[in-house]
Amino acid sequence: MSLSLTLPRWYDLHAHFRQGDMMPSLIKDHLSMGCAGILAMPNTKPPVGKIFKADSLPYWSIEEYRDMLLAAGGDAFDKIIVPLYLTKDTTPAMIKAGAKAGILEACKYYPPHGTTGAEFGYPFEKFIENGVFAAMRDHGIILCVHGEEHALPPETYFARGTNAEEIFYTERLPRAVESFPDLKIVGEHVTTKIAVDFIQSAPATVAASVTPQHLLYTVGHLLQGLKYHLYCLPLLKFKEDRAALRAAVIDPDNVKFFAGTDSAPHAQKVTECGCAAGCYTGGIAPQLYAQAFEEAGIELKNAAGVAAFRKFLCEIGPEFYRIKSPTGTFTFLKNSTSANPLTLAYRE
Ligand code: NCD
Ligand code: ZN
Repeated sequence: MSLSLTLPRWYDLHAHFRQGDMMPSLIKDHLSMGCAGILAMPNTKPPVGKIFKADSLPYWSIEEYRDMLLAAGGDAFDKIIVPLYLTKDTTPAMIKAGAKAGILEACKYYPPHGTTGAEFGYPFEKFIENGVFAAMRDHGIILCVHGEEHALPPETYFARGTNAEEIFYTERLPRAVESFPDLKIVGEHVTTKIAVDFIQSAPATVAASVTPQHLLYTVGHLLQGLKYHLYCLPLLKFKEDRAALRAAVIDPDNVKFFAGTDSAPHAQKVTECGCAAGCYTGGIAPQLYAQAFEEAGIELKNAAGVAAFRKFLCEIGPEFYRIKSPTGTFTFLKNSTSANPLTLAYRE
């Protein structure tokens, strides 16, 4: 059955736009799917590990990376957030200066060597102790967390009874939330029931982004035929985990779970030393989210279903980030007679 759905333009609050020649087409794909703004992740080469260009640290600065995004077509967005990549060199003074200048809005924690471009990550505990999280709390800077325990042996990294994300959400994050109850934290791309339960039971300062792939698939989808295009980190999980994610995002009372695609393109997925982690969903993310909502039993034909979808895609994230509502709308067209059952037409 065909369906037309008009929604406010939305913010993708977790995506990767890389650098150089790749950038313009990636930005174009995001604009084409009704994005009013982006949170552009800082795991570039070099990483975005400082705020001001004038700083002598050997990283790119937020100032420079923002300019690259703007020059590559990002000036068409209402809003671009570039979080600071937290490294061993991040100091409370840097946070304070960035916040005062109005250029720093968020910081990203990467587990050292835990995912693509995470070589410059520094252990989570260090930021609890060295004043960085305290400075972020004091200056209203949001902490974006890749919530996986680092340096685990393969046997516990992904095991029948435990995995890197579950360990992080039971042993690592609770301590940060207890120590810094006023620090705003986003659990990025949550994948497990344990993480969902933690986010739900945490104070209102803690929220989470959810990707299309984690709402649609399980690890079996990846393994059956080794469909490596579904290989991203954190890994796809199990049916019970997907059910918890689906229940969280379709809940009419949802105030914590919002869209962040983690769209993460790789020019070469398969390399000589393994598979690059990251799924590319630029251009098709709202369609995939809509498909997941439908698979979770939500009727996008009725007002209640549309309201839940709009909350997840368009409202909760910007509210958490205190971003003003974007102007303009975009329109979905679902047409079951076409080869591609869900197509998207974008109008200003
Ligand atoms: C991301 C990437 O390719 O930059 N990959 C991924 O699997 N999600 C990094 C990240 O967000 O973990
Ligand atoms: Zn990511």
